[in-house]
Amino acid sequence: MVFFCFRQVKLFLFIAFLGNTFLHMAQSVIRGPYLQSPTDNSIVIKWRTDVNTQSKVSFGTNLNDLSQTVLLTNSTKEHAVLLPNLLPSTVYYYSVGNSTTSFTVPSLKYRFKTNPIPGTAVSTRVWATGDFGKGNTEQVAVKNAYMNHDDSLETDVWIWLGDNVYNDGKDEEYQTKLFELNGFSNVFSWLPFWPTPGNHDYNTVWDQSTFLGIPYSNIPFEDHQGPYYDMVHVPTQAEAGGFASQYELFYSFDYGDVHFLSLNSEVYDFTQTFDGINQMKAWIDQDLAQNNRTFTIAYFHQPPYSKGSHDSDDAFELVMKSMRELVVPLLESYDIDLVICGHSHVFERSKLVHGHYGNSASYDASTMLKDGSNGNFAQGNAYQKDGLNSTPDGTVYVVCGNSGSKEDAPALNYPIMQFVDGGLEACGSFILDIYKNRLDGKYLHMNGMIMDEFTMLKSNLNVEIEDVFLCNGESTVLVPEVTGGSDELHYLWSLNNATSSQLEVSDQTTGSLSLTVTDSLTGQVVTSVFNVSSSASLTIQQSNDTLFAVGSSQSYQWFLDGILISGASASYFVPQVSGVYSVSNGTGTCESSPYNYNAQLNVPEIASSSFLLYPNPAAEELHLIVPKAYLGKGYQVINSSGNVVRRAKILSSETIVDVSELANGIYSIRISGAGERLRFMKK
Ligand SMILES: [Fe+2]
Repeated sequence: MVFFCFRQVKLFLFIAFLGNTFLHMAQSVIRGPYLQSPTDNSIVIKWRTDVNTQSKVSFGTNLNDLSQTVLLTNSTKEHAVLLPNLLPSTVYYYSVGNSTTSFTVPSLKYRFKTNPIPGTAVSTRVWATGDFGKGNTEQVAVKNAYMNHDDSLETDVWIWLGDNVYNDGKDEEYQTKLFELNGFSNVFSWLPFWPTPGNHDYNTVWDQSTFLGIPYSNIPFEDHQGPYYDMVHVPTQAEAGGFASQYELFYSFDYGDVHFLSLNSEVYDFTQTFDGINQMKAWIDQDLAQNNRTFTIAYFHQPPYSKGSHDSDDAFELVMKSMRELVVPLLESYDIDLVICGHSHVFERSKLVHGHYGNSASYDASTMLKDGSNGNFAQGNAYQKDGLNSTPDGTVYVVCGNSGSKEDAPALNYPIMQFVDGGLEACGSFILDIYKNRLDGKYLHMNGMIMDEFTMLKSNLNVEIEDVFLCNGESTVLVPEVTGGSDELHYLWSLNNATSSQLEVSDQTTGSLSLTVTDSLTGQVVTSVFNVSSSASLTIQQSNDTLFAVGSSQSYQWFLDGILISGASASYFVPQVSGVYSVSNGTGTCESSPYNYNAQLNVPEIASSSFLLYPNPAAEELHLIVPKAYLGKGYQVINSSGNVVRRAKILSSETIVDVSELANGIYSIRISGAGERLRFMKK
């Protein structure tokens, strides 16, 4: 009986196993999920299933509440789902599946973090790997060394330097040497990558895109296709910052205050038309012309300078040569900070150089070397650059093509290099830590040792304070506008040697003052001079029909019922309507106390017993009749804003004033020597 029951259970388990296996085989994820194109508000999640099915992503900021969903109802094995409307700098959790089934169980492993808003100065860690997709133990060792290194910072940007798989960029190679590689593949569900292709990735691209059977030929960008381009999903419309490239061949993006350009050395064609390179250069020009991030980094596969498994001096290294001669000068014209490449299966890191576009023999340290030190911060050798793109002051070139590949006994004697590592034991990856005006680059050997370290600092501090105008008895707090620099800023005001970041000034502390800010990280000192001035408020006195501003002032502005009277900027004003008038001095901040003015309700036909104006109102001509004593005197026509619009001499006792050109309104005439004014209306 017991035996019978046991057999029943075994049968049941066997059937259940078959059922599970069948279901599993029917619908399972065989690539990914993996993450592409993170921006400050979106990300793309890709995965592959064994059979056609719908695509659904459930996601949320709480691991236990993935209540937001995106469902694509078309049936496919290649899933790519854009999650829109996300919050910046936010961790999300997700699961992938179809409309009825989830293929992944929510866990910390299925997460991503959206980018910060472009331009925000946040701590940024970058991991760069080149020529890694060998599927070998070194590839895994390099990855493990990185994951075990200083995990105080999360990886923000993972860049691929090309030759991402060997030997030909075939779909099954991406599958076995990346997505299924034991010990390596567990990063894909939480760490997005920003790729560039290498020549090995391009073996299938050219293979699929030959023109008249000629590989490496000059073919249009839209025909660059193959497993590499099927795998990646990179921004072409500046979704993550930068300038739209239109093609996945090359692109740019921002992470915080760092700008990245993923370039493509494989657009070089061996028919040597340079069409592809020239198109890429036109885009680089547009992209860098609008870039104002603190650090700018370009990466591509084939390096301009190397003496590793590839020698950039070799005559057949036409791609390396063209990148050095055609692309590097353009990048340097925008004062690019760092260029990272792969291809040569070694690690090489240059000094700070500029203007080296020939072969290695043409290198002239007297003109091309900007800083010959090792760049080590702890030794006081950090590379210093200014904050201006218009004054190229040097670039560091890195080759890191040994994140899985290696080369026996490379020469490693390129004259610009500061640090090199090569040989059968020499595999590693490149790390960048960037915060504000400091960039630290590190070479991490697969044995866990940091073997090279350099720092680049930007003297990009700028301080501005506007001049201040204070009214009688007023005070204000000065808040300088400080951009650039590090967190180690020190303030020194000329007033009382104050060291605060803000300063209160009153109308008793006028004069030329200054603020000096020192960035103790770079040693940069910036002084901004500003002026504090003050004035007592004016008062208004009325004489006849004119208001006078009483008190000392350089300039005036009159107001009616609190509203600025356009053009009324004299020391007096002739009001034409009743209301509450005020006058300010200086910048207009010190207003007088209000003055109530009552205008005569009607425009008088005759303004004075001594003078006569007619007709009034007048349209074309106005007759001014004056006593003989005023012959030869001057007169002025003044508009309602108090501005003189006409002046002339009285040459006869009846003067005709042409008013046809005047705008409609009320005017007054002032006659020299006369104590009163005549009013008329133009209509
Ligand atoms: Fe390569």
